[in-house]
Amino acid sequence: MTVRKLNSWRRRAGFILFGVVGILSALRGEDTPAQKLVTAPNFYHDVLPILNEHCQRCHRPGEVAPMPFVTYEQTRPWARAIQQAVLSKHMPPWFADPRFGRFANDPSLSPEEIAKLSLWADTNVPRGDPHDAPPTQHWVKGWTIPRQPDLVIQIPKPIMIPAHGEIEYTYEIVPTGLTEDKWVQISELRPSSRQHVHHAVVYIRPPGSRWLRRVPVGLPFTASSLADEQDRRDAHGTDSDMLLVYAPGSLPDHLPNGMAKFIPRGSDLVFQMHYTTNGRRDSDQTSIGIIFAKEPPKQRVLMLQLTNSHFTIPPGVDDYRVESRGTLPNDATLLSFLPHMHLRGKRFEYNIIHPDGNVETLLRVNYHFHWQLSYRLAEPRFLKAGTILQAVAWYDNSKKNPHNPDPKSAVTWGDQTYDEMMVGFFDVAVPAALDKWQYFIRP
Ligand code: HEC
Repeated sequence: MTVRKLNSWRRRAGFILFGVVGILSALRGEDTPAQKLVTAPNFYHDVLPILNEHCQRCHRPGEVAPMPFVTYEQTRPWARAIQQAVLSKHMPPWFADPRFGRFANDPSLSPEEIAKLSLWADTNVPRGDPHDAPPTQHWVKGWTIPRQPDLVIQIPKPIMIPAHGEIEYTYEIVPTGLTEDKWVQISELRPSSRQHVHHAVVYIRPPGSRWLRRVPVGLPFTASSLADEQDRRDAHGTDSDMLLVYAPGSLPDHLPNGMAKFIPRGSDLVFQMHYTTNGRRDSDQTSIGIIFAKEPPKQRVLMLQLTNSHFTIPPGVDDYRVESRGTLPNDATLLSFLPHMHLRGKRFEYNIIHPDGNVETLLRVNYHFHWQLSYRLAEPRFLKAGTILQAVAWYDNSKKNPHNPDPKSAVTWGDQTYDEMMVGFFDVAVPAALDKWQYFIRP
């Protein structure tokens, strides 16, 4: 949303506060949840609990949303905008098609909650009694994970980001300093300059790995800055396990009890940063906060991906389909999904192709480039070895797509956002003793 749009919202919201009380019209009739509410909702009793639970993760000072909704004074001018945003389902952001799957991290409001927020705006935003306020929400400053991380690993020195131009992916190898094996249950990636980070991936490089071994530790580099041919190839691809992927809007990783990601002692983390420029010079020093599992888990979580890098999206086409499929080499429990595309992304789907040819859709996302969310299954799904998983992406390369930088060009795979990607990340749980490479060995 542009600043201008925000300002116009602010003006409208302020204006309507002095407007007519709309309770009578809202109470007429019998059927809708709004009409069942007989007393006007007030801030402390009705509105604040919803904000605590569904909005403040982002709408509190220092987080992604520009306006905090913590106090009455902060929220009141936004009442009308909140009404609009929740009625249109623009907020809280969530892009899964409700016809497929149920997800543990679905922040969507119930019809009753939407009705309360809407009626609150229509009834002159009553404050209510502060004694009715829900227990104060304790947020961890600087993080959205539930408690202070056990370990924070940060890129050691700020990486400079120029004002203009294209930036190759920037890498940095950072030692963990861990002297014992560790299991990660919760982790969160925090860029220090959120506006400049298009995505970040953190890989785990165990001590035995040859990956990027000749490259100095603790210094930023790009593939083309490396002298050695093998190093340059290494920078473009690895089968190392991923700890976490960040893209705008993404959530911290929170694995179910008994499941965790593994970092062997002596490992390094390799940060892959995709910075984009926006006319302002800046620097970034991304960190990852980690909460360890209390005890060794029964299952190890691996992040896998379905990828197709061989496609050409013709110019002007508004629904171009690209797919990728793979067969699970061993049993695994499917936990979550994270689709990744660029500016032409339109829709993304994960399916199981059953032996009889039936296609079962597990998730369909109406893709939005600014919100690359992960979708965590409400009930993890056990899949037998041999199960065929399919990812399907659709792209809109027409001028109807407001994000499209150039509807006249054909688009192929590439790192920059005007190129495209087709990656369906997904997390699976496997027996704790299995390594990623072992998982791919067929029995
Ligand atoms: C995952 C983070 C996140 C959550 C959760 C979230 N918001 Fe937002 N919200 C944003 C961001 C970022 C913006 C500004 C950019 C935009 O509008 O997309 C925003 C903008 C808004 C705006 C400004 C007008 C508009 O529609 O863009 C309103 C009103 C709003 N949010 C209401 C809410 C309410 C109410 C909730 C909870 C029910 C909520 N948001 C939950 C991130 C979030």
